[in-house]
Amino acid sequence: SPAVRLAPSILSADFARLGEEVRAIEAAGADFVHFDVMDNHYVPNLTIGPQVCEALRPHVQIPIDMHLMVEPVDALVPLFAKAGADCITFHPEASRHVDRTLQLIRAHGCKAGIALNPATPLAWMDHLMDKLDLVLLMSVNPGFGGQTFMAHTLHKLREARRRIEAHTATGGQPIWLEVDGGVKLDNIGAIVQAGADICVAGSAIFSAADAAGGYHGVIRALQQ
Ligand code: DX5
Ligand code: ZN
Repeated sequence: SPAVRLAPSILSADFARLGEEVRAIEAAGADFVHFDVMDNHYVPNLTIGPQVCEALRPHVQIPIDMHLMVEPVDALVPLFAKAGADCITFHPEASRHVDRTLQLIRAHGCKAGIALNPATPLAWMDHLMDKLDLVLLMSVNPGFGGQTFMAHTLHKLREARRRIEAHTATGGQPIWLEVDGGVKLDNIGAIVQAGADICVAGSAIFSAADAAGGYHGVIRALQQ
């Protein structure tokens, strides 16, 4: 099976050295920069916005995978697209018109995705398949890094994979399946086996710098 794509979440990086941190994960073979935006409204935490995205953009070539944990969503889409986001994913309960938000993201030249919380059903995908470039399954409740992976996500992953395969088998466009929360060395094998294309990992990566501040060892280990 092909190596899983890795999206290190900079939520667990050293915020005083973000430029160096994203360069280090790219040098170690990361496939995306996962950028968590929290607004103290949709989730009970507060992080970073478009200005930080714009500042980081020239530091790496790999795509920036923007995970918006914000409500409302639409007004931020143009700002993050302009700041250099490549993919923009939002939580559908946080948008009044989910179909419109997906179209807005694509109209700004970005790949569009929905993020489903542990208790949010896959049924959100039903009438959106043609407008999705990715589906992100949360394996923890959003808001914080360092939480424990919820094992029932594996079942949900297999079901989401089945829906995506049925879609592409009938001529639909590809849809990436991404997992976010509690991904570690000891569960990534099962997560990939269940059908994930992209794994986000925050604390597992940024707590494992080598002596020189690099992440080659942990990223190589997660990619197997
Ligand atoms: C949680 C964020 C995640 C988080 C992952 O709301 O969306 O991206 O940073 O961190 P770990 O891998 O530590 O669970
Ligand atoms: Zn995230």
